Amino acid sequence: MGWYDADIDRVIITEEELRAKTAELAKQVAADYASVDGLLLVCVLKGAVMFMADFSRELGKVGGPPAELEFMAVSSYGQGTTSSGVVRILKDLDRDIAGKHVIVVEDIVDSGLTLSWLLKYLESRSAKSVDVVALFRKPEAIKVPVPVKYVGFDIPTEFVVGYGLDYSERYREVPYVGILKPEVYQR
Ligand code: PRP
Repeated sequence: MGWYDADIDRVIITEEELRAKTAELAKQVAADYASVDGLLLVCVLKGAVMFMADFSRELGKVGGPPAELEFMAVSSYGQGTTSSGVVRILKDLDRDIAGKHVIVVEDIVDSGLTLSWLLKYLESRSAKSVDVVALFRKPEAIKVPVPVKYVGFDIPTEFVVGYGLDYSERYREVPYVGILKPEVYQR
């Protein structure tokens, strides 16, 4: 039992399902990029760290091209939990991405505002191609349409935590994805 189990109302995606989906996404990407000599994976901190770690290893195992791993941290100017679409870079890419095949590795697409900004940013840095793999998507929450080529799971617009997703910086280490009991965020 983890300390967090008592705070979870129900599990919506198990560890096994996360593993299987990650392998499936890695296989698709490996097949689509079979002819390139390298991929640059861009992880958007912090929520995507678990997925980045597992996805990049799967990609290697299923015969994908060699990957370089980059990390960015961004923060959206906005009130509370609502993204405004105006993004500030807290940690930029460490190296030049010009001419590289880039894949953005995201945990979740919610309103789409962060990703929409990020795609423009990466294109302005002259990436050769930019695609997105997102493990989760909340289809009902989308405010701006964003081209997400690879999507793991569509999830309900509820308070989900785990596998990188937090509530107030906690629950990221939960190995499954679950819905938080309302009393936790009503405390
Ligand atoms: C989450 C997630 C995306 C963004 C998606 O990050 O990792 O980057 O929100 O939301 P949007 O589609 O509405 O723009 P968050 O700002 O919660 O930071 P975190 O990853 O550090 O938890």
